[in-house]
Amino acid sequence: MTNQPQAKYRKDYTAPEFTITDIDLTFDLYDEETKVTAVSKVLKQGNSTTLTLEGEHMALAGLQINGEDWSDYEVTSTQLHIHQLPNEFELTVVTDINPSANTALEGLYKSGGAFCTQCEAEGFRRITYFLDRPDVLAKYTTTVIADKAANPFLLSNGNRIDEGELENGRHWVKWSDPHPKPSYLFALVAGQFDVLRDKFVTKSGRNVELEIYVDQGNLDRAPHAMTSLINAMKWDEERFGLEYDLDIYMIVAVDFFNMGAMENKGLNIFNSKYVLANDQTATDTDYLGIEAVIGHEYFHNWTGNRITCRDWFQLSLKEGLTVFRDQEFSSDLGSRAVNRINNVRIIRGPQFAEDASPMSHPIRPDKVIEMNNFYTLTVYEKGSEVIRMIHTLLGEEGFQKGMKLYVERHDGTAATCDDFVAAMEDASGVDLTQFRLWYSQSGTPVVTANTAYDAAAKTFTLTLSQKTEPTLDQPNKQVLHIPMNVELYSPDGEVIPMIIEGKAVGNVLDFTQDTQQFVFENVEQEPILSLLREFSAPVKLGYHSKDEDLVFLMNQAQNEFARWDAGQTLLAKYLRQNIAACQANDEMALPQSVLDAFKGILLSESLEPAFIAEMLTLPSQNEVAGWFKPVDVDAIAKALGFIKRTIAAELVDELTAMYHSLKQDKYSIEHAAIGQRALRNVCLSYLAVTDEGESLVSAQYESANNMTDTMAAMSAANQAQLGCRESLMKDFSDKWSHDGLVMDKWFMLQGTNPADNALDVIKQTMSHPTFSLKNPNRTRSLIGAFFAQNPVNFHAIDGSGYQFASEILVTLNESNPQVASRLIDPLLKYRQYDDTRQNLIRVELEKLAGLDNLAKDLYEKINKALEA
Ligand code: TRP
Ligand code: ZN
Repeated sequence: MTNQPQAKYRKDYTAPEFTITDIDLTFDLYDEETKVTAVSKVLKQGNSTTLTLEGEHMALAGLQINGEDWSDYEVTSTQLHIHQLPNEFELTVVTDINPSANTALEGLYKSGGAFCTQCEAEGFRRITYFLDRPDVLAKYTTTVIADKAANPFLLSNGNRIDEGELENGRHWVKWSDPHPKPSYLFALVAGQFDVLRDKFVTKSGRNVELEIYVDQGNLDRAPHAMTSLINAMKWDEERFGLEYDLDIYMIVAVDFFNMGAMENKGLNIFNSKYVLANDQTATDTDYLGIEAVIGHEYFHNWTGNRITCRDWFQLSLKEGLTVFRDQEFSSDLGSRAVNRINNVRIIRGPQFAEDASPMSHPIRPDKVIEMNNFYTLTVYEKGSEVIRMIHTLLGEEGFQKGMKLYVERHDGTAATCDDFVAAMEDASGVDLTQFRLWYSQSGTPVVTANTAYDAAAKTFTLTLSQKTEPTLDQPNKQVLHIPMNVELYSPDGEVIPMIIEGKAVGNVLDFTQDTQQFVFENVEQEPILSLLREFSAPVKLGYHSKDEDLVFLMNQAQNEFARWDAGQTLLAKYLRQNIAACQANDEMALPQSVLDAFKGILLSESLEPAFIAEMLTLPSQNEVAGWFKPVDVDAIAKALGFIKRTIAAELVDELTAMYHSLKQDKYSIEHAAIGQRALRNVCLSYLAVTDEGESLVSAQYESANNMTDTMAAMSAANQAQLGCRESLMKDFSDKWSHDGLVMDKWFMLQGTNPADNALDVIKQTMSHPTFSLKNPNRTRSLIGAFFAQNPVNFHAIDGSGYQFASEILVTLNESNPQVASRLIDPLLKYRQYDDTRQNLIRVELEKLAGLDNLAKDLYEKINKALEA
């Protein structure tokens, strides 16, 4: 690295010296040389007469002030400084950019045949020199000019206000967005598409045109996205009272996209993975993912667009809140318990792992080198947990009052996380002073619980202590305000009213001290404690429950999440024991009582199939890895395999009966049908490791009439390494090679293949005609899955996985640093492993650190990891 990338600090925020209130953009689109003319109205706000604009990867082709050529400026590789400026002026900047050469997929680029943009976080500066920061809000007018045959559709934000034809087969369309917005919400699309159209009438009677643009030939895969959009618009009106504010809402699906989707005002751009679905191509998980992401981007219209972020350190203001909103949307439309379980799995698995890694940061980071590195599980998912805790403390009514006040105060502005918390506090009267530490403190708190029952006094004492271990970014930790949702049961299953100091208390205890005692009165018998119900705070829990109590909670807790969590705690205990046994070369074992408990769940007639499926799903290898240091990947895999085989052998008859009883003739994406398939396919994943595995799996693959069942068969064959795996894989690839999105499922199976020769197969697979390292979806499916979800092979003790990782990262560092920077995460966690693996990984990280063109993205992560 010749120039050391510079960090920015949250504490250094200052208001901009100038602002831009209006911008008129003209794009003359050509694949290799697009000319962008930007005419802005600029106002001085501070004292400086020099305007500094951000800009990179482009050529400055003209600069005028009030229509006159201006020569008093300097341009560097990242900025344009314009000197001796008046207080108010019109600025014209002309830039030349090359969309075809843009493999980073930030700014203006080509995705397949279409032009599209991605400006969040700092991509607009690859289009023109600008005040590319979220606290500069301008009204945009955009004219798009392009060849008409290749690009019949020319789209941008807001409303279409004019259009016309030009010579040489070119045409133009002019768009105007009446809502002032930051540059990161700008979007442009030009290309040839099929369009699915519908309409929505808002609660106040506004007519909104809905348009979903997909590649030609894909129209039959767009209806689910449209239904999801309409459901989201309705839901936001009903639950949050928030209505859409333009006459048109467009969604464009593109194949080359770095993330899931982007909430550009009135013109969302989506990874096609989160739009396209039909029975033959998409799994139930895909359908639900589409609903969630369509909802998420739509909900940003208020939480993100109307009220945006003052600076990028505030990212969780829009992301944590919008994830919370999309989770609530999915929970209101589907199963609340299943949604909660899956969100908690993400926190306890990858988010806790991030907290424990060198990249550990608070949901509102203090220091950033490359902003793209902070679109993280911590900012998004833990950020959503922080919003959920506020919701828990205020209740739905208080929370909605807070939302209303937040919108009243900050609509049309760029706000901060503190503004949000202040609105919640002011509207509800709940004191959130100590709670605010969740925004500034990184790491995962560990809450330890001890209990004592006093039969004579009829009191039950719960003693809670909290401790957050130091993280690389923050050596000292403070005591947090932790909402602890608890419940007490009598042995006959009755809920015991909770009374403290003579007063009835609700389920949520305010745990605000280092160590705190809660004494429950009038407790007639030693109770069974249900702790951290609903996962009311993103903490690790240390509490020793007896097996009987966990089994009791699995069967009798009032709340489904608590039942699931008790099952997971029981499994966790025996996973740990068996991992230890495995390491000591002892025999592995699982008590009959545990097997009986899971049999009882499987046979329960009162539980929903979707929920039973979750109860029977073992923790992931990665989640288990987070419990240990050093991590023993082989022992974890063996213990998980043992538990799976033991349950399968013990319950084989019940699993088989359940499997057959859940067969469906017709495919439907009703929630009940999804749940039945989920349970049936969990049964299959167990049965795959029994003697019947081979025949059941092949038969399901042959007879499947939908992608969920097809993939369940393939995954079972892959995980259990069945003999039929080869032929199923071949059949699938013969059938789907023309379709990259569908092939991603196949690439993912190659990436997660547990076979010893997986890496060789993966290397061969890279020359599959459908694979390309230029496409982020393909890369994540094959390569990303290998790095992050194939622990035994990735961490092979000969270092082959690590060497392969660093070769790939060298390539992606140049072509697409954002994707490279997401893939590298498993390597950053090298200190969690044994010395041999640590050394092997460090060698690769050091090699990467030495690259002379190392991108900021990788530089930031590798440096943190090596300095740790
Ligand atoms: N704001 C987007 C969302 O959460 C995500 C996003 C951020 C993004 N940066 C991006 C998407 C870069 C694509 C590329 O919905
Ligand atoms: Zn978002």
